[in-house]
Amino acid sequence: MKRSIIITGGAGFIGSHVVRLFVNKYPEYRIINLDKLTYAGNLANLKDVEDAPNYRFVRLDICDFDAVLRLMLEEHVDGIIHLAAESHVDRSIKDPFTFARTNVMGTLSLLQAAKVYWETLPEKFEGKRFYHISTDEVYGALALTNPEGVPSPFTTIASSAEHHAAYGLDFFTEQTKYQPHSPYSAAKASSDHFVRAYHDTYGMPTIVTNCSNNYGPYQFPEKLIPLFINNIRHRRPLPVYGKGENVRDWLYVEDHARAIDVIFHRGKVAETYNIGGFNEWKNIDIIHVLIKTVDRLLGRPEGADEDLITYVTDRAGHDLRYAIDSRKLQRELGWEPSLQFEEGIEKTVRWYLENQEWMDNVTSGEYEKYYEQMYANR
Ligand code: NAD
Ligand code: DAU
Repeated sequence: MKRSIIITGGAGFIGSHVVRLFVNKYPEYRIINLDKLTYAGNLANLKDVEDAPNYRFVRLDICDFDAVLRLMLEEHVDGIIHLAAESHVDRSIKDPFTFARTNVMGTLSLLQAAKVYWETLPEKFEGKRFYHISTDEVYGALALTNPEGVPSPFTTIASSAEHHAAYGLDFFTEQTKYQPHSPYSAAKASSDHFVRAYHDTYGMPTIVTNCSNNYGPYQFPEKLIPLFINNIRHRRPLPVYGKGENVRDWLYVEDHARAIDVIFHRGKVAETYNIGGFNEWKNIDIIHVLIKTVDRLLGRPEGADEDLITYVTDRAGHDLRYAIDSRKLQRELGWEPSLQFEEGIEKTVRWYLENQEWMDNVTSGEYEKYYEQMYANR
């Protein structure tokens, strides 16, 4: 079957992996990457597919309703996979307006353009799909212990539903109430509500997924893993927020892209699916792994760079723990993560070390200024 799909934010971290997967796996589809190319968007992420006959890049702002509608008409779009967003929590604390504009108004503009276009067609919403990519951060934060105060031995043990049940620890499920704490997650939560409202009000065939922290190649080095790999390499300080006790649930980015493929094609309209790796780590434990891995791969004595660890003022409103229960997705659509964390982190560190040119390119100019502003006052 032929399809014409807009992927928004396709020049960003996760979006570029989704574009690559769809362009390569579905030569019969037309894949349109719609991206504004903010500081986070980089066409170098897609060099290997840029000449593919089924791929087109269009530089556009999702907030530009008229231009988005024109593109949908021109390309006879029948599917939208929406990843474009402002995605970094620290930036949202400094500049919440940009997050409301892109994440809320931008999503609304896309929804309305799709509605207007699809309603002009004889078959209307039939065979159409609006798939919105959201985050686990909308659910708020979980405790590090069970109600009796017993902590879980997270580190190095990939957690599981059984493991959590044994300790009485909570997960985020699809039924968890929204309780966003940062301007970023508040804006994502708002966009999720708009997407669901378009289903409930107009019958638009929408799907929402909420995913945990991604890691892997092409992530902008303002996020923990690429930032720290690059800093260790250059022997720059590693700014650990608070005590480094916060827990995140890490998923290799290509596993997320595979989940998006499965859900776009086989997910049920109006449903929500949580996506996660059952792989919780305290920040400080990941940081030790990163130091060991970078040191080993660069031929330095393992752990030689431990003294780069620098505890700095905590992030405002820093969520303590995220943990996703992705059993619904596993049960209903048969998806599960393919990579063990140790394997994924090794691949990731190698990639950043071998792609210094990419790193130099994205860390030049504006990013350097941002880095200095961000860390000067901590
Ligand atoms: P990213 O910041 O790496 O990329 C965002 C992309 O969106 C960039 O290419 C940027 O140019 C583009 N963009 C920003 N504003 C735009 C606008 N107004 N119009 C068009 N394009 C615009 O983000 P990411 O980490 O790849 O995240 C992608 C999506 O996945 C986001 O919606 C994010 O909320 C969600 N998500 C991310 C993670 C994660 O760990 N990174 C986890 C769960 C969900
Ligand atoms: O959970 C999904 C979310 O994961 C996505 O929705 C976001 O788009 C994505 O940015 C990510 O958010 P986090 O805030 O969890 O990711 P970040 O890499 O910024 O931080 C991971 C953890 O590391 C967090 O507890 C804060 C801490 N941290 C981060 C940075 C950048 C530090 O201690 N020092 C740092 O310099």
